[in-house]
Amino acid sequence: PFTPRVFSGVQPTGNLHLGNYLGAVRRFVAMQDEYPCIYCVVDLHAITVWQDPVELTQATHNVTAAYLAAGIDPKRSIVFNQSRVTAHAELAWIFNCVARMGWLNRMTQFKEKAGKDRENASAGLFVYPNLMAADILAYQATHVPVGEDQKQHLELTRDIAQKFNHDYSERLASLGYGEDGMFPMTEPIIQGPATRVMSLRDGSKKMSKSEASDASRINLTDDADMIAQKIRKAKTDPEPLPSELKGLEGRAEADNLVGIYAALANTTKDAVLAQYGGQGFSAFKPALAELAVEVLAPMNDEMRRLVADPGHLDAVLADGAARANEIAAPILHDVKRVVGF
Ligand code: ADP
Ligand code: NA
Repeated sequence: PFTPRVFSGVQPTGNLHLGNYLGAVRRFVAMQDEYPCIYCVVDLHAITVWQDPVELTQATHNVTAAYLAAGIDPKRSIVFNQSRVTAHAELAWIFNCVARMGWLNRMTQFKEKAGKDRENASAGLFVYPNLMAADILAYQATHVPVGEDQKQHLELTRDIAQKFNHDYSERLASLGYGEDGMFPMTEPIIQGPATRVMSLRDGSKKMSKSEASDASRINLTDDADMIAQKIRKAKTDPEPLPSELKGLEGRAEADNLVGIYAALANTTKDAVLAQYGGQGFSAFKPALAELAVEVLAPMNDEMRRLVADPGHLDAVLADGAARANEIAAPILHDVKRVVGF
């Protein structure tokens, strides 16, 4: 049996948005009460698509600031950036040799991110899921809080863990490992009303850093006026809100706004509809804007304060990296021994 441990990460690419917050970061905060947690700024992942070096450094600070402003406690949890701990890249190489081409060919995120010009995508973008498996398994992490879009990558992580445990089973046994082998079967934790926050402009697309229109997402750096304006202009339909959940079927935009409200208010979509059912968006949108500002504004202030002190952020990252390395280095040492290095 593996010691319960949480690992997750966010890429330092552009601004964090409400989807990252509700689907991931906010849940990172909650998990600190139950588990030892490791929260990474995954800068190795970021460079699978071109990043301006100056902006990458800045974005690494921004994500770190968002983590802390959201309530991740860097004394209790480990907060660091991936490139400072060499185990990630080393284990990723081993996993490049465990994962099969066919497994990676099935990854929908690669298809989305590479687009039509696959020949011109970086090789790193293709093997990205192997690096993600390494991030998790370098700590033998048992739980990974993520948004729904990461479910397939977590399945791949389990496939890699299983194949490694299987391929090296004799070796593991001869070195005294029990039935569980080297790596756990890591569980994704995908929970709550906002596991997939959608674009404010198009209910069929997830809210993302990469959508061209800034009006499609609420950035954690947006001020109160901007948040209110984006919610006011969010695409909706002309019907009032239904009073029951099944009335949201086929109404992606309405469903999305109700889900966002529920997540921000720490309640369920049912409870939101019990309160707002029968009302139009002219009443619901201002209420949602007010709630969003109430939750996000204090975080926004704190992020600004933190980003103004990059020395402090670097100290947090350096301390986190040292603690992360203390966990990962002995695991990687054992992995190398198993492989025969
Ligand atoms: P992005 O997908 O915006 O580039 P990342 O890949 O760094 O961001 O994802 C960081 C975390 O945020 C992941 O756990 C991911 O599942 C989650 N996430 C990203 N977009 C959304 C969304 N629209 N709704 C819910 N969670 C999301
Ligand atoms: Na993502």
